[in-house]
This record gives sequence, C-alpha cells and structure tokens, in this order.
Amino acid sequence: MKGRNKIRKIMPAAVAVLSLILTVSCNSEGGKKSEMDGFVGNLMKKMTLEEKIGQMNLPTAGDITTGQAKNSNIAEAIKKGEVGGLFNIKGASKISEIQKIAVKESRLGIPLIFGMDVIHGYETVFPIPLGLAATWDMKAIEEYAHIAATEATASGICWTFSPMVDISRDPRWGRVAEGIGEDPFLGSAIARAMVKGYQGDNTFSGNDRMMACVKHFALYGAPVAGRDYNTVDMSRSMMYNIYFPPYKAAVEQGAGSIMCSFNEIDGIPATANKWLLTDVLRKQWRFGGFVVTDYTGISEMIAHGIGNAQEVAVKALGAGVDMDMVSGEFLKYVKRSIKEGKVSEKEVDEACRRILEAKYKLGLFKDPYKFCNPDREKKEVYTPGHMAEARKIAAESFVLLKNEGNLLPLKQNRKIAVVGLMANSGANMPGTWSVAADFSKPKTILKAIREAAGRNAKVTYSEGSRICLDSALSKNITSFGKIFPDITRSDAQMTAEAIKNAKNADVVIAVLGECSEMSGECSSRTNTGIPDAQENLLKALYKTGKPVVLVLFAGRPMTIPWEDKHIPSILNIWFPGSAGGDAVADILFGKTAPQGKLPSTWPRNTGQIPIFYNHKNTGRPLEKGKWFTKFRSNYLDVPNSPLYPFGYGLTYTTFAYSNLKLSSDGMKPDGSITATATLTNTGSRTGTETVQMYIRDMSGSVTRPVKELKGFKKVTLEPGESEQVSFEITDSLLKFYNYDLKYTSEPGDFKIMIGGNSEDVLSADFILKK
Ligand code: BGC
Repeated sequence: MKGRNKIRKIMPAAVAVLSLILTVSCNSEGGKKSEMDGFVGNLMKKMTLEEKIGQMNLPTAGDITTGQAKNSNIAEAIKKGEVGGLFNIKGASKISEIQKIAVKESRLGIPLIFGMDVIHGYETVFPIPLGLAATWDMKAIEEYAHIAATEATASGICWTFSPMVDISRDPRWGRVAEGIGEDPFLGSAIARAMVKGYQGDNTFSGNDRMMACVKHFALYGAPVAGRDYNTVDMSRSMMYNIYFPPYKAAVEQGAGSIMCSFNEIDGIPATANKWLLTDVLRKQWRFGGFVVTDYTGISEMIAHGIGNAQEVAVKALGAGVDMDMVSGEFLKYVKRSIKEGKVSEKEVDEACRRILEAKYKLGLFKDPYKFCNPDREKKEVYTPGHMAEARKIAAESFVLLKNEGNLLPLKQNRKIAVVGLMANSGANMPGTWSVAADFSKPKTILKAIREAAGRNAKVTYSEGSRICLDSALSKNITSFGKIFPDITRSDAQMTAEAIKNAKNADVVIAVLGECSEMSGECSSRTNTGIPDAQENLLKALYKTGKPVVLVLFAGRPMTIPWEDKHIPSILNIWFPGSAGGDAVADILFGKTAPQGKLPSTWPRNTGQIPIFYNHKNTGRPLEKGKWFTKFRSNYLDVPNSPLYPFGYGLTYTTFAYSNLKLSSDGMKPDGSITATATLTNTGSRTGTETVQMYIRDMSGSVTRPVKELKGFKKVTLEPGESEQVSFEITDSLLKFYNYDLKYTSEPGDFKIMIGGNSEDVLSADFILKK
C-alpha cells in the first residue's frame, strides 16, 4: 500500500492518463477492429521505447517453473513497465494482487496478461491430450476445453499454452502424451475443437473463455531419435502435408497466439526462423495474433550455435517473435540493437502492438480484473458438474486393446485382487502437465473398484512391485510433487504378497504401466514397454493361472507384445485425470462400454519406430499378409505391421462392416461422391463405433500415402441394429501439396476405404476427372 501511495503522489499525471485510457477503452472495447486500432495506436503514442519492449517480456513469477530460469524482483519490474505478462501463477486473489501492481503502479497502467499451461484441464483434470484424441469426439473435446477455460478464467488465467498440436510418429518422445497423435486430419479437427472450446466465438465477450496459444510451432514432434529438444530435419513436402495442417487449422479457427518450438528447422531454430514465423505463418496463413517463444527459447539459441545473446535476440525479433518467454534477452538487448541499427523501432512497434491487441481483445483494458473473481473461483472450479463430465470423457478415452473370452466387463460380487502401486495413488491419475491440479483430490482406482465391485465382493490390494528397477527413471518420475509412498520392502516381498492375493481371487486387476512423469516434457524413453519391475510382476501374476485384466497407464503408444500374447484383457487408460478412478470402474464393471480408438500406431517393438499408418508404398512393398520376402521392404525379425493399428479399439460388442457403395464411380472437381457402408452391431450389447473413412490417391505427380484418414463418425447401435453410414467426398479431401507446394488435386484413380480401424477396411474405387 505504501509503495502505491508514493507512486500516486509522484505521478498524478500518469493516473490521469490511465483514467483517460480506461474511459476510452470502456467505450470502445469489444467493438470493431478500427476501434481497437485507434485505442492501441493512441496508447502506443504515449509509450516509451522501454515500455514497448517491456510488453514483449514474459518472465515467470517463480510460482511454478520449468527450465533453469531464476526470477526476482518481479514486482519492481512490473512497476517499471518491464513486464507484459506472467504465467503459471495460481489463484484469483494472487493474480489480482499482481495485476493491481501493473494497473496502479506502472506509469501507463497497462494490465498484464496471465498465462498457464492448462493443457488438459485446470483443477478438474481431464485425460491427457493423447487420451482426449482417442475419444475421436470433437464435441467432447470442445466441451473439455470450455470447462478448462471456465475454471482457469475464474482463477485469473486468460491465456492457455494449449492446444499442443505437434504431430508425432515417435513414441519414444515423451511429449506425445500432450499431443494429438500421428494424423493430420484428426489432429486438425482436434485443433479446431480445442481452440473453439477455449476461445468460444473469439469475441471474449464473457469471462469464461481464454486465449489459446497453439504450440509448438513447428515440427516439435519430430526430434531425431525421439529425444526431446533434439534436431529436426524434414522435407518441405512432409511439413506441408503432414506436420503443418493442425497448426494451420488452429490458426484458421482464430487462435489468438502461437508458441514457437525449441527445435531447428532447416538449420535455423524456429525461434529465429523468419521463413516459418513470417512467410508461412503471417503471409501464407494470415495469422494476426502474437507469437511467444517457448521457455528460454531465445537464450537457448546461443547453445544452438547461431549467435551470442544480443545476436539471437535480434534474430528472434527479426524473424517475427513478439514475446520473449523467460530469457529476458529482449529487455537486455533490443534498445541497444536499435541504436546500433541492428533492428528497427518499427519491429518493436509491431510486436508491442500485437500484444496490446491481444489484451484489448481479451477485454483487459476495460476490466483488468475481468478474470479475477474469487466468487466465481469458489463456485466454478472443480465442480460436481465438471467432474461428471471429466468422468464421462475419461471413460470415452479408454481403448480396449484386447478382451479374450469377454473377460470384461467383470461381474460384481467376486473375489478381486487389485495389484500395482499406481492403483492406490490419486496423485498419479492426472498425468503430465497438470499444473493447477490438487494432487490430493483424485480418487484412486482401488477405491473406485471397491465402491463399484458390489456389496459381497472381496477386494484385496497389494503393491506388487516398485514402478521400475533402479535407473535414471526411478529418480526422475516424481516431478511436480507426485511422490509414491516410500517403499521399504523388496520387489520379491511385494510380489509374493501379490501372488498370494491373486491365488485367492477369481480375477486379478493389474494396474501397471508408466507412471505420470514417465511421459511429458523431457521424458523420452528408448524402451517404451512396461517398466521392468512391473513387467516381472505381471509375468508372475500370469503364472498363477488366474485371469488377469491389465489396466494400463500409458503416456505414449507402448510396446507390449508379451502382454498382447498372454494377458486376456488389456484396457489402456492413458492418464485419465481427476475423475479417472470412477471412469475405470465404470468400464471394468460395464456401467459404460469402451469406445476409444488409437490416435497413433502402437509398434511391436521400438525398432519399428517410426511406424505410422499413412506411409508411402515404396517401389518394393511387401505383399499384404506376408512377413518377409527377400528384396522387399521389410524386417528379418518382425513383421511390418504394428501391434495395434491407428484407429484401433474394441468394445463390449462387435461390429460388422458390409456393402460399401459409391454413388458414382467418377467425379469432377466441382462435384461430389457419397460413400456408404452398412454398420451392424453383431454382438449382444449396445455399443459405439467410430467409423473411419480413408482415401488413397493411386498415382500422382509425387508419391502419395497408402491411405489417409479423410472422415470419421461415431455411431451408437443396439444389438442387431444396422445403420447406413455415409461420407461425402469432395475435391477438397483429395488435395495435397505437390512438389511445388501448390495445394491441388490431380485427376486419376482413387480408392476409398471404410472400416473400424486403419487396417481392416472395405474398399471401392473411383476416378477424379478434370
Ligand atoms: C514447454 C511449453 C510450456 C512452457 C511454459 C516449456 O518448457 O515446452 O510447452 O508451455 O514450458 O510452461
């Protein structure tokens, strides 16, 4: 308070300026672009160069930090106008205190923008994004994002570092957990749904929507050897056809900001890549929002080897970066670089303008505390309604990989042995990047099973083993405070207890796999199987001869060939979030049926990586159904096919596909064809199927993938019921970027495929005539 009074005395003129700004903004905000231009233009006329550069600075307040950066004296910096925004601070009252410093104690009173990694939920955590992708349910994903926005904005956050739409074909890379899988079509649909859920109609007229920040632009999901932060080297054709579409879709949906990636592109880090940030993003895609770096992205370019601190700051600004996350190099070097003629004041003006525009669009000039409402925070965060939705969506994300003899769903009132350290951990449920989660809240799977198993059930529990035997992994799995209880017994002792319980049970539920921090940032693995200690345990449980249900925690496509061969039922639950315990019980006991489908291919072993369904045919393709033929493209030791293909997932009933028909066997670019297949529920329970439509361009001016997803629909059918499922094929579905990167379709033969996954499909042919 003292400090504030002092500043008021010293700068009455500043206060007058501030009130003028606020009055003007109140009248104009939310209005037309010209009004925004006028407002921001007027404000910028009053700003010093230092204040403009200050807007381009995004330090972290130290509440939750990633990376190595240290920050101090944030409040002083805010008062001096050296801060444009802050991130990963939790709580409406804390944020409004900080906002007050900016609004009342800085010369022009420009409000801060507050960001956070609301990646798959705020306090109500939903499944990890890869799990959300497995729902193939765009309404559910939009609903998730709206709930996340509702909670975060009630707590002061108006900007989320999401969606992360990095395509990845490499399960070794730990950040596949945060992404959308391997497919550009599905990924683009998810990108649109998430931006829509976060931003609504892009007007931010209410206070329950926040600005999206699409990341990590670009190609971050393709690091060499799957090692996080590693070099990327990719053809332009691959960029445009496979990796770019989801970012572009998010931009087209109106995403207000974009984050550049850590990796290099053609030898120039994304953060300094003018071709990427200006030519592609701004000129080709007409992106009108602002670009923020990733955490210390600018200073890391010194280690990349493209210049000293000043040089990399100049390169980033020149390339099109508007805001510097954490490195502080803009603050240090931009003014000096203008004097030295290395950058122009115009570039600073443009960057500053874009950031002020974002604040204007969010409504922060009109009401800097628009998103800081402790009443809303009390009422709208972690509500029963949000938890119910999180439970429903979690159940929808689970993928039933195997279910021999219909072991699932389980009958109630039986003797059940629940085994596995993670079955009894609530803190493990949210999964990676759950910045705002309260880890003491999620119900454990064990508790949920106990509640759902029936009054006469007998449920035993044993830890069974550690997560993994001693390795770097065991030390690196507890970030963000998610700590498993201290294990004092040996694995042998724990396993002996588990076996005893298993022998006395009718069925064993083994809750195993990766724990939370084995995926996510800086969590690459070269062995993507179930960690050794748990794998040993599972083998011992299998030997008891009791039926085993494997409930699998997975932050990536895993390699589980032994499990697939021996364990009768495998339910992949990803990291299911705050309400995941109940969702698991709902599925295990058949209250709801699984319906998730894999958004990425699951390999047989890590040597097959990268493996993806939309590959090219090569000149020596292996004949279908064969394992190996000499001088064909294949392996000596493993078939080409994956363990589980893209789009795969079972449920408690069965579906049959028949009678694929096309409305015509030829079309012109201005026409369309309808493809219709009959889907029949051939089992004895109601079920939901995601019907997938793929297209192959049989011959082109450049080689084309053997199939590409071009449509999908979720259909629910009663036992015995059939439905005609149709897809309209238009020229836009046949287009691709050709050798000259022109987006076009080419006349010739096409194949349409429809089925329940990318491998088991019916097909029919047509011709595109031009
Ligand atoms: C991550 C980003 C994240 C940022 C801010 C970085 O380490 O790569 O995805 O948004 O930190 O927390």
